[in-house]
Amino acid sequence: MKDQLIIFDTTLRDGEQSPGASMTKEEKVRIAKQLERMRVDVIEAGFPAASNGDFESVKAVADTIKDSTVCGLARALEKDIARAGEALKGANSGRIHTFIATSPIHMEKKLRMTPDQVVEQAVKAVTWARQWTDNVEFSPEDAGRSELDFLCRVLEAVIAAGAKTVNIPDTVGYNMPWQFGNLIKNLRERIPNSDKAVFSVHCHNDLGLAVANSLSAVLNGARQVECTINGLGERAGNASLEEIVMAVRTRQDMFLCDTRIDTTQIVPASRLVSGITGFAVQPNKAIVGANAFAHESGIHQDGVLKHRETYEIMRAEDVGWTANKMVLGKHSGRNAFKTRLKELGIELDSEEAWNAAFARFKDLADKKHEIFDEDLHALVSDEASSATQDRYKLVSLKVCSETGETPHAAVVLSDNGEERAAAADGGGPVDAAFKAIESLVKSGSDLMLYSVNNITSGTDAQGEVTVRVNRGGRIVNGQGADTDIVIASAKAYLHALNKLATDETRAHPQV
Ligand code: KIV
Ligand code: ZN
Repeated sequence: MKDQLIIFDTTLRDGEQSPGASMTKEEKVRIAKQLERMRVDVIEAGFPAASNGDFESVKAVADTIKDSTVCGLARALEKDIARAGEALKGANSGRIHTFIATSPIHMEKKLRMTPDQVVEQAVKAVTWARQWTDNVEFSPEDAGRSELDFLCRVLEAVIAAGAKTVNIPDTVGYNMPWQFGNLIKNLRERIPNSDKAVFSVHCHNDLGLAVANSLSAVLNGARQVECTINGLGERAGNASLEEIVMAVRTRQDMFLCDTRIDTTQIVPASRLVSGITGFAVQPNKAIVGANAFAHESGIHQDGVLKHRETYEIMRAEDVGWTANKMVLGKHSGRNAFKTRLKELGIELDSEEAWNAAFARFKDLADKKHEIFDEDLHALVSDEASSATQDRYKLVSLKVCSETGETPHAAVVLSDNGEERAAAADGGGPVDAAFKAIESLVKSGSDLMLYSVNNITSGTDAQGEVTVRVNRGGRIVNGQGADTDIVIASAKAYLHALNKLATDETRAHPQV
């Protein structure tokens, strides 16, 4: 019998800490449902003390998810822990994850606390969390640069106080795989009550070693890995869930454990997260990159055709790659539409929302005869963002673009229900449209990124546009999809500007 390797997904918390990756409550719930479908064991849904919005998002995930444990992050402060406890009240299975830094540099420069004070605060935090739940996880932040003796002391104390999981973060991605594996081995051997807790790891990818470090820890007895879809996360990201899961599954000859993950849900999860956050997946990314299973070179193709294992160590279909399949078309009815969305795990909450989504689907099917699953996901994302209480909505856009002429755009926006119009010239039609929009919104933001991807193949495909804008250090992403890429661009820009317009301040857990 192999041990279970617990998969703890932190896409909705550490992933969301990537600049621009912030998600709405509805987006978090959609991703959480996909993680549940994938059979993720623990979903870290956010940091409830960050803001009222974050609290509501964690609560919504906790109230919705039934089969995975839902976790909320809290600093080692009584008010944070109470906020997490409140947000998780509705969960079938809830966990509070509390943390405090233990490295000399963090204790001295960030916390301005002595090691004794840190031990005392860590124990208090676990004790407060235990008043809400038995399922408490503790992390010594920056463990990768902490002193071994001190780590042993803190961890022994928090396990004695009732922490059931102790998570060892390489917060700044500094460790080498052999060093990190050794750290786990030493901690497990030296802490007298180490058998009373599950050892977990949480690795960042600053040196590109997050997955290697996590796997080395697993070989040395870690039985929970914290990871994110597509490796999203603070700075260079966290260990990527798909790489961890497939490494362990593919090399069962090496590992004494396996996960419960339904690997066929990996690619759909990857697409959903990149669509919602606007963080594109690089084509050569392992497992979920567009080229991960493409055998371009003639020699490789020949080998794969003769015997697929010559060059393939995994099967594309096992991780959820399916050829673009036409699922619906112009003549599909409401029932077929609803059934396919439900098969994709998409539920809309009212008859009105179903009607609006179906009307959009009919519009799209008029322009694009074959509708794929990817189109349906984009359609629902678009529907969700236009159904919200957004301040700005696109009413109409007209662009003129002709060789030898200056591109021109005329836009009508609804601003809190009141229609306003403007026109502008630009270097190209997108530039003209953005200038016209900005002349109405006056956001004062800078455009940091603009990218277009086709959602499916073919010239009639929908273009999915991602923009990233920055105003005074607040960075947000926006997405929009349409068969007309100038309209998709305007939708994406407005999506981002709407996020900037909601100026809720959020605390960062680690700063
Ligand atoms: O990287 C880190 O140390 C964290 C902790 C909050 C676990 O994200
Ligand atoms: Zn982290």
